[in-house]
Formats: sequence, structure tokens, C-alpha cells
Amino acid sequence: MGETDIQAEKPDLTAPGDDAPVDLDAEFQDSHIQEILDKLDRELVGLKPVKTRIREIAALLLIDRLRRKFELVSETPTLHMCFTGNPGTGKTTVAMRMGEILKRLGYVREGHLVTVTRDDLVGQYIGHTAPKTKEVIKKAMGGVLFIDEAYYLYKPENERDYGAESIEILLQVMENNRDDLVVILAGYKDKMDRFFQSNPGMRSRVAHHIDFPDYSPGELMDIGELMLEEQKYQFSKAGAEAFREYISLRVTLEHFANARSIRNALDRARLRQANRLFAKRGSPLKKADLMTIESEDIRASRVFVEGRLDAKLNEAPEQP
Ligand SMILES: Nc1ncnc2c1ncn2[C@@H]1O[C@H](COP(=O)(O)OP(=O)(O)OP(=O)(O)O)[C@@H](O)[C@H]1O
Ligand SMILES: [Mg+2]
Repeated sequence: MGETDIQAEKPDLTAPGDDAPVDLDAEFQDSHIQEILDKLDRELVGLKPVKTRIREIAALLLIDRLRRKFELVSETPTLHMCFTGNPGTGKTTVAMRMGEILKRLGYVREGHLVTVTRDDLVGQYIGHTAPKTKEVIKKAMGGVLFIDEAYYLYKPENERDYGAESIEILLQVMENNRDDLVVILAGYKDKMDRFFQSNPGMRSRVAHHIDFPDYSPGELMDIGELMLEEQKYQFSKAGAEAFREYISLRVTLEHFANARSIRNALDRARLRQANRLFAKRGSPLKKADLMTIESEDIRASRVFVEGRLDAKLNEAPEQP
């Protein structure tokens, strides 16, 4: 025992001298971080500001690692984040990637993502909240804790709301365990802003606020094509045209959820394609038939009826 004590006091002989050069590029190659950044670029359409911020965070952590080699100890950077944006803008997907990146850079041990909402953290009865919250934190330790619609933790209208207890515990862990747990709060921007106004402690612990904008129609089309490609499907020329039109109508309708709506639309198109092929089951099928989404697989959607009706109603002159 005494021996290890003595060893701990010895200077670190592996630390480079002040003038020794370090190879940032080698360190970068070694982390394989480029692979993840490339994958992010390839698999996620748009999201330019989000991708830029992720690169910046990766650079910060890499430099931090090199600084530590020179024993330039600094505090572990705070990496808790807030992702704001409408449904289906890629918040959960990016949080998952963030976990991978943080793991590669040695910031967290596992890099897994635990997604929760208020119900997973807050109990119904007195004494239930602390154990619930602690259990979730235990699961997420070494990775990323993603709290969806985090503002529901705080209910100012209830005098005695257990959400406050959960926030209290989270705040402590976010401070004391920030070298092994990254908390990401997600939700709508306006609600999140209000939440931070009433919870300055939470605001001060969140270092990165990243906004996820709605996708443009062109980006939604690219996302659709990418999703099909990943599943070894493709649009025919007329199919692509129909889907472009579908998007222009869908974005105006209720419950539009960006990329999520695109995924759902394509799931239904695949269903219709399968039925179309099944109906013709006498004739031989080629590989291309099995892969292709045709115009009719898209145009059978209700969106073509509802969207057009909506547009007509909006165009109609107001009744006197
Ligand atoms: N930029 C993108 N490129 C390709 N696919 C995307 C992109 N953004 C989102 N997706 C896909 O859209 C779906 C919804 O994305 P995700 O669940 O990350 O959104 P979200 O912002 O977390 O939504 P919600 O608020 O509804 O939870 C996923 O299947 C995801 O793979
Ligand atoms: Mg999500």
C-alpha cells in the first residue's frame, strides 16, 4: 500500500517536455473521429449549423486530450446541451451520434443514449421521485441522458410538484458527474426558453444550445431518397415527381413532423407497392420491380385529397 502512495507522488515521466511537438493529426487519426463526422455528413441531410457545432465540440475535446498530455490540467469542459426544434428535425438522431463521438474522444465510457420523459423521472407519490430519477441516472451514467420535452419537469402551477425534486437531483449530477454523463434537454424552443427563465440553475449548467431548423422541401426530398436508398428502394422518375408534390402538400397539413413524416409516408408507400405487386402476381417480377416506388404508390395517399382541399379552401374568397 505504502508503495503505491510513493509511486503516485513521482512526476509523470511519460509527459512530453515543454518544447516537444505533438502530432495533432496523429491524435485525430487515432480517435477515428473523422469516420463519425463523415458518416454524419453522409447520413444526415442539411443540419449545417448542427454539424458545425459538433465539429467544434470534437476539436475542443481533442485539444483537451493533448493538453492533458502536457499536464495542462483544466476543468473537464461542461458538455450538457439543449436541442431545440420541431418534431422530426433530427434531435434524437443527433443525440445518438453525439454519444458515439463523446465515447471516441474518451469523454464518456460507453456513449449509449438513454431517452426519458417526465414520467420516467417523476413519481406520482411522495418519496417515489428520488429513486426513479436516480435509477434513470444510473442507467445513463457513462453515456448520454436525453430528456425529451424537459420543460414538463417544471410545473409552476402546482404548488407541490415532484418535478422540482427531480430537477434538484439532476442539477447535482450534472455538476458532480459531468466527466461521465452528458445530459441533453430537448423540446420546442419557446417552451424551453421559458423553462430556463424559471430554472436559472439548469440554464447555467447547459453549455451548448443547438437549434434544429425545419427542413426545406428540397431537404425533405433528399431525406426521402436517402431513406429509400438505405432500404434498397428507389423512386421511378414519375414516383420522384409524385413525392415532390406530396411534400409540397404535406407540409401545409396538420401534424407535420419533418423527417418523421417523410419516414411514415415512405412506410405507407412500401405497403402500397407490395400490394400493387401482389395484385399482379401472375406476371414475372424483376429485381427492379421489387425496388421501385411508382407514382401510384405515392398518389394513393390521402394527402393528395386533403392537401388540395386545404389549398382550395385557403384560396376561396371570404364569405360576406
Ligand atoms: N437530416 C436528416 N437526414 C436524414 N434523416 C433524418 C434527418 N433528420 C431526421 N431524420 C430521420 O427522421 C426520423 C425522425 O428523427 P428524430 O427522431 O431524430 O427527430 P426528433 O427531432 O428527435 O423528433 P421528435 O421531436 O419527434 O422526437 C428518424 O427516422 C431520423 O432517422
Ligand atoms: Mg426525438
